[in-house]
Amino acid sequence: MKRVLVLTGGGDCPGLNAVIRAVVKRASQEKDWEVIGSMQGFNGVLNEPQEIKVLDDDAVRGIHFQGGTILESTNKGGPFAWPVKNKDGTWTTVDRSDELIKKLKLLGVDSVINIGGDGSQRISQTLYEKGLNVIGVPKTIDNDVSNTDSTFGFQTAVQVATDAVDKLVTTAASHNRVIILEVMGRDAGWIAMNAAVAGGAEVCLIPEIPYDPKKVNDKIESRFHKGRGFVNIVIAEGAKPKGGTESAVNTGEVGYANKKYSGAAGRLRDELKEAGCEHDVRETVLGHLQRGGVPIAYDRVLAAQFGNKAFEMVLEGKFGHMVSYRHPYITSVPLKAAISKPNLVTQDTALIKTARGIGVSFGD
Ligand code: F6P
Repeated sequence: MKRVLVLTGGGDCPGLNAVIRAVVKRASQEKDWEVIGSMQGFNGVLNEPQEIKVLDDDAVRGIHFQGGTILESTNKGGPFAWPVKNKDGTWTTVDRSDELIKKLKLLGVDSVINIGGDGSQRISQTLYEKGLNVIGVPKTIDNDVSNTDSTFGFQTAVQVATDAVDKLVTTAASHNRVIILEVMGRDAGWIAMNAAVAGGAEVCLIPEIPYDPKKVNDKIESRFHKGRGFVNIVIAEGAKPKGGTESAVNTGEVGYANKKYSGAAGRLRDELKEAGCEHDVRETVLGHLQRGGVPIAYDRVLAAQFGNKAFEMVLEGKFGHMVSYRHPYITSVPLKAAISKPNLVTQDTALIKTARGIGVSFGD
């Protein structure tokens, strides 16, 4: 009997369950393969007692349209930075990667499918360099993993953000207001830009293009005549003014390496007031609504293709690689290339040209 271990790491994302199901369905067509799942990333293997689930057809029945992940997830710690509490109450981190590899051997695991974003795939690459048979499956609502055309979960997040813009457009129009919608996207403005174009927003502010509040205000004024008019702005949480920094704080949560982004919309409201905006301004922060819930059909299909491909890569022994979508193919790329740089919005991106072409201001 051969064993493949599946895990989900990092922030959750619509479509994770559809990937898990596809791995199991594909594996069940081969003789002598068993799929097991580790709860909360690699924690399930490292915890005592271990938290490991056998994933058979019964375990994955009907999960393809469920949000979240039946294996749960974590974006804290991990095998290379496991948080440990000192006697004095302070915390430190230890490297448990060698222990992880030993435990996987004891479990009879031949290969690992790690479903996660850039942070998780960095862990995959380092474990691969230590001799583990790892395959990566990219996951992110932010669409910031490079070397793949897109990732599952992204289109669902765009749909949620677009629904929000649609709703905010009608209320902005009714009250002659400026309404700012803050969406996710720490480093990449893909969600913001897609939702702005789909929802017909007038302004889109993204991390890749620092904005000038005066230019944003000029755009607002151009939309008002004798005090009447309205403006919808979509801002990514990681957007920053020219010469400024992103609106983010260290949470102090043990093992949490990321910053917590919040406040970009509120800060923009204050900047607009300073720039002379006299209209009513309101803000909405969409937050984790973009990550939870049912994946749209596109993401379920992409997730199914990723899960199927991941197991085929196990059969081929294509370790140290990540599943990748290169239209019209589902293919693979070395993990090293995948983690080498993030997928950010660049000025030559087709959609940015379209957005500018239809009058969207990026505040630059
Ligand atoms: O990476 C996806 C993402 O949704 C970011 O856009 C956001 O900043 C972050 O996760 C929030 O993660 P959490 O609140 O789960 O730590």
